[in-house]
Amino acid sequence: MSDRAKFIAGLPKAELHLHLEGSLEPELMFALARRNKVEIPFKSVEEIRAAYRFSNLQDFLDIYYQGANVLRTEQDFFDLTDAYLKRVAADGARHVEVFFDPQTHTARGIPFAVVADGILRALSEGVARYGVTSKLILCFLRHLSEEDALATLIAAEPYLDRLAGVGLDSSERGHPPSKFRNVFEAARERGLLLVAHAGEEGPPEYIHEALDILGIDRLDHGNRALEDAALVRRLAHEKMTLTVCPLSNLKLCVVTDLKQHPLKRMLDLGLRATVNSDDPAYFGGYLNDNYNAVAEALDLSHDDLVTLAKNSFLGSFLSEADKAKHIAAIDAYAGRAQS
Ligand code: HPA
Ligand code: ZN
Repeated sequence: MSDRAKFIAGLPKAELHLHLEGSLEPELMFALARRNKVEIPFKSVEEIRAAYRFSNLQDFLDIYYQGANVLRTEQDFFDLTDAYLKRVAADGARHVEVFFDPQTHTARGIPFAVVADGILRALSEGVARYGVTSKLILCFLRHLSEEDALATLIAAEPYLDRLAGVGLDSSERGHPPSKFRNVFEAARERGLLLVAHAGEEGPPEYIHEALDILGIDRLDHGNRALEDAALVRRLAHEKMTLTVCPLSNLKLCVVTDLKQHPLKRMLDLGLRATVNSDDPAYFGGYLNDNYNAVAEALDLSHDDLVTLAKNSFLGSFLSEADKAKHIAAIDAYAGRAQS
């Protein structure tokens, strides 16, 4: 292991952009297909992995929604979430804020409660089991209507005290944030925090809409902000956190080569960028794989890595006291690593 990889491995960090359905490893997909007697169009784990070649976001989403079809019971959602927590804890994660897509499941007749109960039980047990705290974010699928999103928010009412916020994911192009103005307002009125995917494939205008119309507290991806200098200045001034996903960007052809990845430029421009894995089972890497790949490609220094790890806590929805505690742990670790 290189010095940099060792430094990354021990660095306390948070993950802020992770779709639980995107952490479904082919092995678990197979096991759940068998357990639930669900047919899947693959004969082996190798065949599944070989199918994971994407040329854009939609290519990926088609196979990602198909994969989620094996998730049926409360125990399935528990197992999915527990496996992710165990894996990310091994990467030095101390806190995670994870997305789930209830509409992917309710559309198949799985009750909202089955999904939420399994996930929440694993998140709750994850604190003692793995030393990882967590928050849960409900994502609306943007290719569906705003009415469907509103119905999902209503279905979530009994769980509002266990949800940190709502987000917006799925096919970005043609589905601007403004389409979800009312449901985001309703979520805010219910005390939820707001995030949205914007500027992954969509234009900078979608980022403006996410800020001005939805009133987001955090921006997921945001890569294409760099095409708009005034927007970059605004995001830096407002200390908006960007949840950047390097290996996802590579696999979905948002960048052609990690050497061209904008992460370092974002830091140099004063943006509060973070590193995340998005859908690790599909994009070939968990949290530290993302740190390692982008650090190698962009020759990131220990200082850059410390900034990224600190940003992951500063941009989290933890209390100020908890943020301070994690930042102090990073400073202590970086100090020890130097001496
Ligand atoms: N973008 C949009 N929707 C998603 C993604 C993503 O990277 N992953 C899972 N749903
Ligand atoms: Zn995402």
